Amino acid sequence: MTFRSSILVAGSANLDFVVRAPHIPAPGETVLGGEFRTFPGGKGANQAVACARAGGAPTRMLLALGDDAFALPIEESLRAAGVALDIRRSDRATGTAFICVSDEGENAITVAPGANSALRPQDLPSLDGIGHLLLQLETPLDSVAAYARAARGTGASVVLNAAPAQTLPPALLEDVDVLIVNEGELAAIAGAGESIEANLGRIDVPCVIVTLGENGCLARIGTETLKQPAFAVEVVDTTGAGDTFCGALVAALARGATMPAALREASAASALACTRMGAQSSIPTRAEVEAFLRGKALEIA
Ligand code: RIB
Repeated sequence: MTFRSSILVAGSANLDFVVRAPHIPAPGETVLGGEFRTFPGGKGANQAVACARAGGAPTRMLLALGDDAFALPIEESLRAAGVALDIRRSDRATGTAFICVSDEGENAITVAPGANSALRPQDLPSLDGIGHLLLQLETPLDSVAAYARAARGTGASVVLNAAPAQTLPPALLEDVDVLIVNEGELAAIAGAGESIEANLGRIDVPCVIVTLGENGCLARIGTETLKQPAFAVEVVDTTGAGDTFCGALVAALARGATMPAALREASAASALACTRMGAQSSIPTRAEVEAFLRGKALEIA
């Protein structure tokens, strides 16, 4: 008998080309930055690493990589975190992301999807034993929708991080159990509502979570709303903080945590990710999150 406990992340993997600069350049502006570095990234791969480091359920990832040197650090980072890999090898270049991080820790990102665009509906591996499928929007939308539909058919829980922002076909939302968005992504899906709470109510998905940066996050579950305040930290780089939230949340849910406990853990993991440079390099382990949370007041409404 196979236990329905594993997490499958299906999505993007990029090599991030990162430079820090005093501020993010405006259109037409050139800024002199600091040292250039590369980091394994991509929303899908970051979320898979976050799931694995948060522990509680074996994590697999379906991803597409080129047959090139950029793929190697990505594979190494995922494997080192304990993620089992289903790699589709493409003749396109491995995905890359060009990131400017400001001295305040904010970023601007441009992605060249490359091999990520080659992930097809038929690439989905067997869903035997998969309890949670975690998806994002850096791979083709028809594949994302096909994976969600297949998982819905097996009874697995479908979690969609609708990033980067785009409008979504209603048929995809019908197959989603938990939708995670930031404010901009929420507006892209729900339209310009009068308030965030009103927009949360307009999306026909059982649970919608909106992350609000230093204002924490709000979750609407059915008709109930939960609020988790953010944890204050010294911000170095926010790249991957949202991905860390998604992965840590799904890992906690797969472990059987309640939604309030999962939100608290995900918020703590995401706060810790902001204190270090890079995407996957900044994602904390569960032990680090537990140590951080020890002694912190339980603040959830
Ligand atoms: O969410 C952060 C990620 O977005 C980066 O790692 C970059 O690769 C882009 O996908």
